[in-house]
Amino acid sequence: MSESSAISGQDTIQESFAKRITALESENRSLSEELETTKVEREEVRAKLFESLIANKKYLRELERLKKENLLLKRMPLFLATVVEIGNDYVLLRQHGNNQEFITTAPAELMEKLEVNARVAINNSLTIVRVLDHSLDARAKVMELVEAPDVSYEQVGGLESQIQEIRETVELPLTNPKIFEDIGIEPPRGVLLYGLPGTGKTMLAKAVAHESKATFIHMSGSELVHKFIGEGAQLVRDIFQMAREKAPSIIFIDEIDAVGSIRTHDGTTGSAEVNRTMMQLLAEMDGFRTRGDIKIIAATNRIDILDPALLRPGRFDRIIEIPMPSAEGRLKILQIHAGKMRKDPDVDLMEIAKVTGEASGADLKAIVVEAGMNALRRNASSVNRSDFYSAINKVLGDEVQGSEENLRMFT
Ligand SMILES: Nc1ncnc2c1ncn2[C@@H]1O[C@H](COP(=O)(O)OP(=O)(O)O)[C@@H](O)[C@H]1O
Ligand SMILES: [Mg+2]
Repeated sequence: MSESSAISGQDTIQESFAKRITALESENRSLSEELETTKVEREEVRAKLFESLIANKKYLRELERLKKENLLLKRMPLFLATVVEIGNDYVLLRQHGNNQEFITTAPAELMEKLEVNARVAINNSLTIVRVLDHSLDARAKVMELVEAPDVSYEQVGGLESQIQEIRETVELPLTNPKIFEDIGIEPPRGVLLYGLPGTGKTMLAKAVAHESKATFIHMSGSELVHKFIGEGAQLVRDIFQMAREKAPSIIFIDEIDAVGSIRTHDGTTGSAEVNRTMMQLLAEMDGFRTRGDIKIIAATNRIDILDPALLRPGRFDRIIEIPMPSAEGRLKILQIHAGKMRKDPDVDLMEIAKVTGEASGADLKAIVVEAGMNALRRNASSVNRSDFYSAINKVLGDEVQGSEENLRMFT
């Protein structure tokens, strides 16, 4: 009995082992299956990672390329253009220099900064790269702002009656506005100086500004028209604005004929542009009628081609001719420029004034400088008569020769 029960006990143990083994085996199977799938999954992930690494490398290379291109674009010469019109998704620009118009776009962040008349830098492919600070940039270039120039009336030879006239019309209203108020007359607003080149027009304007302690704003008509295409009118506005800010001030418009020559109406962009600048100038001149502390001095070598609108009464109060110097004037100019020069006793400035009949003030100055150079070349410590004579030949002789050649060409 005990033996059979022992056998049956053994059977039960065996059975239970067998069951346990089966269970373990099945567990083992499912675990190895799981392992297989995990292995496959791991391979997949690895493959994906590899792919990403490759892609990453590709992007890095692309990034490098773009960075280089960007650098190149920034380094390439940029051109100036002015914004003519802004649409929703385009910008119409006019390029400086060649005056060509074209349509382009700009990145959104630049688009916000754009306004009509703004100046922009464009690259070779006509894309806007930068927006320039319009007024500051352009102002600085076209105007020469001098608080009070360092030229006095004593440095201007001859021209006594012209100086007198300018003092009355420009200096007096600036330094003594009350005189005009008291008498109850409108102070003069400006003068137009005309005369041949080198006769001292610019110098005279500077001297007036110096003596009246006014801000001197020097603007060149030809630069306004030729260098700042598309901006002339805006610049004129800026200039008058600055004159108001810095009053008392004198606006000196040199070569006003470049802006104010007889309008051609031939429809080309150039002259339309000049017309706009001119209209703005006239508007500004009429606009500050009531203000006494801004004066205009304009100068021209070519009064014959000036627009009659500029010469109409009420625009300039006086139109003053600056003549070529007389013999007496030439002597004074020579004394001004050669006064401090060490001269041999044989040098007679009166004689030099007599033989330089066709010389302007600028010519006379050039003669003095050249005579000094001649003395230097001789290693001499003072200038003699023949230094002056070869200087006269050099400065005036070429001109005479040149005009003889011209004559021959036309006969
Ligand atoms: N009347 C003058 N007296 C003294 N120097 C003169 C005179 N006219 C001309 N000059 C000399 O010639 C230079 C050029 O003159 P500028 O005033 O520019 O002539 P414009 O403006 O009439 O062409 C002056 O800087 C000055 O040195
Ligand atoms: Mg001048």
